[in-house]
Amino acid sequence: MITTSLTSEVGEVFLWKEYMEENRLFIFDTTLRDGEQVPGCQLNSVEKIQVAKALEALGVDVIEAGFPVSSPGDFHSVVEIAKAVTWPCICALTRAVEKDIDAAAEALKQAKRARIHTGIGTSDYHIRYKFNSNREEILQRAVACVKYAKRYVEDVEFYAEDAGRTDNEYLARVVEAVIKAGATVVNIPDTTGYCLPAEYGAKIRYLFEHVDGIQKAVISTHCHNDLGMATANTVEGVLNGARQVEVTVNGIGERAGNTALEEIAMIFKCHKARGIVTNINSRKICATSRMVSSLMNMPVQPNKAIVGRNAFAHSSGIHQDGVLKNRESYEIIDPREVGVDDNAIVLTARSGRAALKHRLHVLGVELTQEKLDAAYEAFLKLADRKKDIHDDDLLMLVGKDLSAMRRIKLDYLQVTSGVGLRPVASVGLDIAGEKFEAAASGNGPVDAAIRAIKVILHRQTTIQEFLIQAIDKGSDDMGKVHIQVEYEGNVYYGFAANTDIIAASAEAYIDAINKLGDK
Ligand code: KIV
Ligand code: ZN
Repeated sequence: MITTSLTSEVGEVFLWKEYMEENRLFIFDTTLRDGEQVPGCQLNSVEKIQVAKALEALGVDVIEAGFPVSSPGDFHSVVEIAKAVTWPCICALTRAVEKDIDAAAEALKQAKRARIHTGIGTSDYHIRYKFNSNREEILQRAVACVKYAKRYVEDVEFYAEDAGRTDNEYLARVVEAVIKAGATVVNIPDTTGYCLPAEYGAKIRYLFEHVDGIQKAVISTHCHNDLGMATANTVEGVLNGARQVEVTVNGIGERAGNTALEEIAMIFKCHKARGIVTNINSRKICATSRMVSSLMNMPVQPNKAIVGRNAFAHSSGIHQDGVLKNRESYEIIDPREVGVDDNAIVLTARSGRAALKHRLHVLGVELTQEKLDAAYEAFLKLADRKKDIHDDDLLMLVGKDLSAMRRIKLDYLQVTSGVGLRPVASVGLDIAGEKFEAAASGNGPVDAAIRAIKVILHRQTTIQEFLIQAIDKGSDDMGKVHIQVEYEGNVYYGFAANTDIIAASAEAYIDAINKLGDK
């Protein structure tokens, strides 16, 4: 039990009552610092504030907002996030260097709860090759940086970089010394993602058994995924006493990434018997994941745990039948718990009659057993030829045409684009039998087409995810477009396939918009 009373000169008493609850796990999100270091994932300040607000709504305890000394842009973002966010503690990273700590303190001035995250490499690789130094000197620098940061804020987190490859006995000496110097949180990063789960867990346990005063600080995990073990290592760290986890949304981060926030939150939610609780509102997980993915231009792999497109999609007949009878047969998480509307029963050649009947029921079609048998035979033949079976295909099989039932249809699309030209699109829509036309320019031909459609529809929609895939490999191939459109807080999915990818994009957007109905 931690008995330290934490008061900050820049903020309120920091969460110290909650520290008293031994099984409360603090979620430290570093999407905007470690995650943002990924090439191509950089965000501007406005986008960072958008992510920070989403993290606040998600319920994270600490937001690592940036590394203020690294650039004026990073400094500015930390200032703006500190102003914009109310409840979570805002943290800024530094090296064990006074000017870094000065910059962090300055950037955090307006935070309601502020933390400085300072530290130094403690493995022999870092001590010898990075610092050309020795263990004693590094220990002194560790203590000095914590003391220096304490001049500004009460809440100081120390990181022992490359702790995963640091000798445990030396690491324990460093941890003890920085806690004596006032560190409120001590981070044990597996910077290179090298540790095995049992080894990382044993390291945390070793610290609890060998560091005097360890109960005065919170021990934190920070695991990288180079060998695909970041989540397993983090879980082992928690089971051995760590009570803060450093994570990113979708597991983005340097190289193979960091521990994924959504995985840790759902692991401890599913394994309630462990008694570990977080403050995460799991129903906001998928929306936050999509926001981060789209702002950072970083698609989520379809089979990614919790937030991948296929995370709740069942395609084999046996599984589909089981899920339709009782979802718990093959689902450990109700998709609605993470903000996904339903489990996706994906129809393929391996699907059974039960799945076909269920999908037709959702589409409003009820068939007699005899008709269902005939439809199932036809469905199997089609599924052998076609990889994706869509609702239109099914309705066609049973003699109904979905496109005729759609309210909004694409009448025509003409796009002019080329090198040195700003793309322009003209679009004709048929909305419940009435014809509308509009034209717009855009950053690219797809953007121009969607803008033109928006001119007609007047709906404030945001595209959260946009994915174009080729079905085969040739240049004459069909393009498949998946799109996720956000409207008034809800997300609608659209799909289309066409040899013309601009037409497919426009049709996928219209497909999603049709699902809004009259909203
Ligand atoms: O991976 C790491 O060691 C880090 C530290 C700077 C905390 O990101
Ligand atoms: Zn890291």
